[in-house]
Amino acid sequence: MKTLIQNGTIVNAGASVKADLLIDGAVIKEVRAAIPASAADKVVDATGLLVLPGGIDAHTHLDMPFGGTNSADDFETGTRAAAIGGTTTIVDFAIQSKGTKIRSALDTWWKKADGKACIDYGLHMIVTDLPDAGLEDMDDMVREGVASFKLFMAYPNVLMVDDATIFKALKQTAKNGALICMHAENGSVIDVIVRQALAEGKTAPIHHMLTRPTKAEAEAVHRAIAMAEIAGVPIYIVHLSSEDALNQVREARDRGLPAFAETCPQYLLLSLEDVADKGWEGAKYVFTPPLRERKNQPKLWEGLRQDNLQVVSTDHCPFCFEDQKALGKDDFTKIPNGGPGIENRLQLLHHHGVGKGNFSINRFVELVSTAPARIFGMYPRKGVLAAGSDADLVLWDPSEDYTISAKTHHMRVDYSMFEGFKVRGNARDVYSRGELIVSGGKFIGKAGRGEYLRREARGGAWK
Ligand code: URP
Ligand code: ZN
Ligand code: ZN
Repeated sequence: MKTLIQNGTIVNAGASVKADLLIDGAVIKEVRAAIPASAADKVVDATGLLVLPGGIDAHTHLDMPFGGTNSADDFETGTRAAAIGGTTTIVDFAIQSKGTKIRSALDTWWKKADGKACIDYGLHMIVTDLPDAGLEDMDDMVREGVASFKLFMAYPNVLMVDDATIFKALKQTAKNGALICMHAENGSVIDVIVRQALAEGKTAPIHHMLTRPTKAEAEAVHRAIAMAEIAGVPIYIVHLSSEDALNQVREARDRGLPAFAETCPQYLLLSLEDVADKGWEGAKYVFTPPLRERKNQPKLWEGLRQDNLQVVSTDHCPFCFEDQKALGKDDFTKIPNGGPGIENRLQLLHHHGVGKGNFSINRFVELVSTAPARIFGMYPRKGVLAAGSDADLVLWDPSEDYTISAKTHHMRVDYSMFEGFKVRGNARDVYSRGELIVSGGKFIGKAGRGEYLRREARGGAWK
């Protein structure tokens, strides 16, 4: 089956061109002006539309156990919502249970996705337990296409690992080429502040935010980058939320270190001030790192412009307000950490990034698709519209007005962090490996069609 997308504007990270795009089966055959209609079985008129590489969300948590419950979207509902929003690839996180081999976590997450994923998915591996004898298990994962590992410097006694473990894991990536993704917050310091707050009877959601200072994030970012520098490997900081933390990344990059970082729409668009008077409803915004003071936001936008932040992902980790966030009604430390966003990333970034003049449409594509493809070992199969790449693409209507709401969204969660946000720009049609899976904003694909992506461990050679 050959599909010709005619008269659109092809937008890649490097340039935008008026051209046609021919899909042949699952891949892009050609991108050039004036491809004749006779070359295709089907012709789609994209006049007035932008043709974008499918979005890549490199940070999602579907069906993830946390605090006695599981994130509300599974691989079916989560990837369907992602597709409707213009995302055609996710990289989710498998979690090693303490005392078990990481291989069994990979099997568990493959089972979670099997028969459910609507778009292609890769997996990072969260390592919680790494005895010396387990270091080579990381290499085994790399052979399975798990080209990145997440380590936690926060959540003591649950997910946090010590500096020795972090350093050993970093050194192992010098051998196997994988990338360490770091949740950078000083968990031990935060734990002391949290215990103190609880002892003072401070149990409301706002105390989740007030007990996690930006300096605890910056300190951990600094330490993580320093350990990576000693080990001689790159590092990627996940969900960076504050100016203090960003300064650490910038300082490292100015010295030429391969330090990379992502931020998320919630840190760019929501703030501590927005939720300060929400009372219990503030539980909807309990995630880690927490929302920061509004003054951080322009610094994060600047970080995106100046390439000190390379990626925008969602950290999609939804818990229903009614019955899951309620687990922490009397104690903010028991509120499951996470918020929903997988569906709205492109809309929010397009409107507030491109629409408000923060960056170009090409930088938008780079942030939401090309850079994650490169950094996480999927490029050029994903993240670019070019001959030979997977035909993952979005026909994007830059002038469609849309209002975000839990009443109309497709994520399986009973609230939206961006309720009532008005955006201009939306996905009209979405193709995944050449198959039309979203038509006119409606999902028409099949659950289970998404494939596991074996990603390449690039050893830091992504530029
Ligand atoms: O609060 C968050 N971010 N939940 C998901 C787990 C993580 O740390 O990314
Ligand atoms: Zn994290
Ligand atoms: Zn996360």
